[in-house]
Amino acid sequence: MDHVIHVTHPLVQHKLTIMRDKGTSTAVFRQLLREISLLLGYEVTRDLPVTTKTIETPLTDMEAPTLKGKKLALISILRAGNGLLDGVLELIPSARVGFVGLYRDHDTLQPVQYYFKVPKDLPQRRVIAVDPMLATGNSSVKAIDLLKDAGAKDIKFLCLLAAPEGIARMKEAHPDVQIITAAIDEKLNDIGYIIPGLGDAGDRMFGTK
Ligand code: URA
Repeated sequence: MDHVIHVTHPLVQHKLTIMRDKGTSTAVFRQLLREISLLLGYEVTRDLPVTTKTIETPLTDMEAPTLKGKKLALISILRAGNGLLDGVLELIPSARVGFVGLYRDHDTLQPVQYYFKVPKDLPQRRVIAVDPMLATGNSSVKAIDLLKDAGAKDIKFLCLLAAPEGIARMKEAHPDVQIITAAIDEKLNDIGYIIPGLGDAGDRMFGTK
């Protein structure tokens, strides 16, 4: 398994460039995030197991491919995760949805949990955790810790931007969790923001700054 899948599709890269631009409005940012999450959703589900079932087309019977096993669980890491969640959920409407509420203490940069609600049958489901920014990795690692404590065994992490520091941290803590990202940026600054990045994803998405 490749630990990191970097989605270099031209449409993804084009949309991401517009999102990074500080002149892009909140409305356009949100619309592009939804569009990118559809494209990333395509990548993150690429290796889902399939089986076949017999169906009747108007002309004949056939053995046709269909998804195998339980449906997915999508876990949004609040609050920015909700922006990625919408598009992926549109692609997989029958997925169950959970939420992990973590905020970053601005002094320590450590994640603090304030909410946790996930589907009960997590151990039987492919879990896709979504958060646009893999920065220090502290929140992402903590979220995956909590999901594993709740029984999740098959987890992927979907983000928009990843910093090398965050990728290294996740690989060390959770080598079994594959990361799917639209970009691997240069570095973190001294307050844990991704450079060049796109700023605070939650603020860009909800217009809170
Ligand atoms: N979270 C964000 O929203 N942006 C960053 O650059 C890092 C963490």
